[in-house]
Amino acid sequence: MLRRPRRNRNSPTIRNLTQETLVTTRDLVFPLFLLEGSGNRSEVSSMPGIFRFSLDQMLTEIEQCMSLGVKSFDIFPVVEESYKDKMATNSYQKDFFYLKSLAAIKKEFPEAHIITDVAMDPYSVDGHDGIVQDGKILNDETLEVLGKMALAQAETGVDMIGPSDMMDGRVAYLRKVLDENGFTEVGIMSYTAKYASAFYGPFRDALDSAPKFGDKKTYQMNPANRREALIEGQLDFEEGADVLMVKPALAYLDIISDLKETYPLPIAAYNVSGEYAMIKAAGERGWLDPKRSMEESLTAIKRAGADIILTYFAKEYALILKNRQI
Ligand code: PBG
Repeated sequence: MLRRPRRNRNSPTIRNLTQETLVTTRDLVFPLFLLEGSGNRSEVSSMPGIFRFSLDQMLTEIEQCMSLGVKSFDIFPVVEESYKDKMATNSYQKDFFYLKSLAAIKKEFPEAHIITDVAMDPYSVDGHDGIVQDGKILNDETLEVLGKMALAQAETGVDMIGPSDMMDGRVAYLRKVLDENGFTEVGIMSYTAKYASAFYGPFRDALDSAPKFGDKKTYQMNPANRREALIEGQLDFEEGADVLMVKPALAYLDIISDLKETYPLPIAAYNVSGEYAMIKAAGERGWLDPKRSMEESLTAIKRAGADIILTYFAKEYALILKNRQI
């Protein structure tokens, strides 16, 4: 036999030498859930090991992550029911705890890369990403709310906004609002191909943000569609997105690969809450090795083409790398 592929698998060293993909802490963004108040941390029951933090606790968490080499954070607010309304007005009140906390985080850690979430659902009584009228999600009217939200977030000093709402035209709209207000340096990581997925369940538990009626299928993509992601990619590319994201990650590796091949922009993938929960749950039962499953998943996401991986495993994976001295 001329070709014996096993020769390159003979020892750990040759396996390392020939390894094509290695996930490092530089690739990772850690999503964090922010509580109002202080002295609070509460574990998300469907996401063991993941906590909602009040600002003071979150600063400690960020500090620990930074020292492990994880330097980018996507921060989501946990909003009390009494603060919610139909128009998500608290999302752009300057004294709202989310905005004040973002400013405090950037002040404490100027070198941390902070990403925010732009969508109405955490602040909406309807639990939808856009304005609801007669059971429908309005598109163009929602853009105005998203614009106010994005601007308020940019004013806190964050580095990048993450529109996760899937309204049409929002990247162009938000880019214009940011630029007109002097925030030309604030980036946009667009949730380009965000699918109407069952894998967001634990996240909605964490934020108590599940839709009060219906589902998100009129704005999030149909999981059965592949080519449609290229339309979303093209729009976001033309509208000025800095990063294109695919979400969820593991069931959508083909989409990651397609966007990577088609657009010369960095590609992010969101390894979502349900993907985290599955590994944790099976691990707790002893049905699989959770650490190896985590590493294999992250490696597969990068191998498919993701330059950036948003993952709840970020800190845990960084700890493993540290002990391995990579
Ligand atoms: C909402 C939003 C969701 C996630 C991020 N932003 C949930 C949804 O669209 O219902 C999901 C993240 C996760 O599951 O980890 N705009």
